[in-house]
Amino acid sequence: MTDARMTTTGADWPAWQESWDRQQEWYMPDREERFRIMLDMVEALVGPAPRVLDLACGTGSITARLLARFPDAVSTGVDLDPALLAIAEGTFAGDERVRLVTADLKDPDWPTRLPYDSYDAVLTATALHWLHSEPLAVLYGRIAELVRDGGVFLNADHMIDETTPRINAAERAQRHARMEQAKRDGALDWAEWWQVAAQDPALAGPTAERFEIYGEHADGDMPSVAWHARVLREKGFTEARPVWSSPSDTLLLALK
Ligand SMILES: C[S@@+](CC[C@H](N)C(=O)[O-])C[C@H]1O[C@@H](n2cnc3c(N)ncnc32)[C@H](O)[C@@H]1O
Repeated sequence: MTDARMTTTGADWPAWQESWDRQQEWYMPDREERFRIMLDMVEALVGPAPRVLDLACGTGSITARLLARFPDAVSTGVDLDPALLAIAEGTFAGDERVRLVTADLKDPDWPTRLPYDSYDAVLTATALHWLHSEPLAVLYGRIAELVRDGGVFLNADHMIDETTPRINAAERAQRHARMEQAKRDGALDWAEWWQVAAQDPALAGPTAERFEIYGEHADGDMPSVAWHARVLREKGFTEARPVWSSPSDTLLLALK
């Protein structure tokens, strides 16, 4: 980290990025592979210098990996969490390629806050399961309007197939047993991570604010891959299918 960044912001943003990644990997050990395939598909379909919308960007995990791999890309990060956005702002301070926007994706007018009215790629990870199906379908309509013809939407998330209950239960039991072991080895879970964030003077205020906005956590109903693909087609995408999956997660690609 540069001295200038420390002086300007007063927090160790690279350390916060690292700590956020470890916490997310506790839930998804294959998170980096998901990001890698996501960017492979961006390159394959819209090339190596895309204009990207990092939807529900959090600390800007997708944006950081995008710019590391494609230095000529530009990114708009949109999120509602003031603490995660503070980490993103500290991380990308002075980088002209990045714009960060505060907005609630459940507000139908959120696209009016964006600096562009069209994107080559809208990318999102581990976020849209916070929304229930009805607002998610509305959001998919907004995303379809924002993606240019020939552009892509990629969503990496937990999508539940209700037709495979025994497989789901076995996968879940194994995943949770591994998480418990990782916790015994010192991994921080979501709640513990936020307790640590609240101790950093630069994040204490925004952390208190984010709990007022969200409460402890917000889970939607996590519909199936088939639901996501069908709704994306109904909203204006011409093709939609998974391009990667793990036992628990799917990366869905929709092409307009
Ligand atoms: C688990 S984080 C994932 C962040 C990032 N994509 C990553 O993979 O590290 C989920 C993000 O979704 C955001 N989010 C959830 N609901 C939202 C909403 N209604 N409007 C804006 N952002 C939302 C949260 O604030 C949070 O930053």
